[in-house]
Amino acid sequence: MENKKTILITGGAGFIGSHVVRRFVTNYPEVDIYNLDALTYAGNLENLRDIENRPNYFFVKGDITDTVFINKLFQEHKFTGVIHLAAESHVDRSIKDPISFVTTNIVGTVNLLNAFKGVWEGNFKDKRFYHVSTDEVYGSLGESGLFTETTSYDPNSPYSASKASSDHFVRAYGETYGLPYVISNCSNNYGPNHFPEKLIPLFINNIINYKPLPVYGDGNYTRDWLYVVDHAIAIDLAFHKGKNHETYNIGGFNEWKNIDLVRLLCKVMDEKLGRAIGTSEKLITYVKDRPGHDVRYAIDASKISKELNWKPTVTFEEGLEKTVDWFLSNTEWLANVTSGAYREYYTSMYTK
Ligand code: NAD
Ligand code: TYD
Repeated sequence: MENKKTILITGGAGFIGSHVVRRFVTNYPEVDIYNLDALTYAGNLENLRDIENRPNYFFVKGDITDTVFINKLFQEHKFTGVIHLAAESHVDRSIKDPISFVTTNIVGTVNLLNAFKGVWEGNFKDKRFYHVSTDEVYGSLGESGLFTETTSYDPNSPYSASKASSDHFVRAYGETYGLPYVISNCSNNYGPNHFPEKLIPLFINNIINYKPLPVYGDGNYTRDWLYVVDHAIAIDLAFHKGKNHETYNIGGFNEWKNIDLVRLLCKVMDEKLGRAIGTSEKLITYVKDRPGHDVRYAIDASKISKELNWKPTVTFEEGLEKTVDWFLSNTEWLANVTSGAYREYYTSMYTK
């Protein structure tokens, strides 16, 4: 008998995960979608209020590092697919506390691989383990060049080292046990529900509150920005149509030096808030650089583009405006996530 399709999405209460859960719950009503999330500081069920009562959506609170719990969950539900996003995701936090990145990103991933293998070994047909990773595993680019799927891994931060390790484990399970997997490595995302510790939402929140905008170093670092919904679309495509044991790079074809992006954001925010143009730029403050700061990331997304016909649907200007609009109309969300523990984090990061 065919197994009913049941997909486990880990980290679905987080930034990218919530967009992936929404897309799968909405587009695949015949498939049961389980969202497994430990609800750390970065997980927020408010991100999924609009779909939480759908009949094919189920939330499970739990920790991917808990081996016994994870094995039991897989034995009980026999997930035919896994889309794994749960992770510690912020570089600055990884510099302060590398061990929690090792535990969640490496041990947690191996736990999921083991549990999936435990259920399906000998019967891997039509099953898929999809691992969501980052372009940061490739390290840093100079002035030119792009990361392709064959670029050597060269991670520089505890975060990227932990993600690189988890990618290697996924590949190793593919080679050793024949576990069917797809990995994607994506560039920097932005959009609604982005936790305000990352550049764009942090600066939106600070601009709203007339707080300094802490630009690291000289601000000449380059990132390739992708609207989060376009990442969710790419994951959907690669999960369903991607080739087994393949990696897909996903990127926005959209490189910005941090300082140029911050200046554009200041302008958009001044317009939206009805402030005189130039008001927010005055908040820019150059601060001590991040240790091991990667100079430039840029993705060559031609493989997913050619093979799966994916390309971003939103330009950066449109995406940034949508993002700013979302934050300005969700001030309660912002107030909730920036209360309590966030204040302690902010003080320890940004106060000398
Ligand atoms: P996020 O920090 O916003 O969300 C992570 C989620 O995982 C949270 O809901 C959190 O509660 C959950 N989680 C953390 N530890 C857990 C544990 N031990 N057990 C269960 N759940 C746990 O992260 P994000 O920005 O949405 O990133 C999601 C994934 O995408 C990560 O794997 C990240 O490496 C990858 N990624 C992120 C970006 C980006 O720009 N944000 C780019 C490329 C890839
Ligand atoms: P971030 O959003 O943390 O993503 P990542 O480090 O994963 O690329 O940072 C994006 C860029 O913005 C990165 O070059 C670091 C820089 N940055 C600042 O200049 N100031 C800040 O307060 C933060 C959070 C980031």
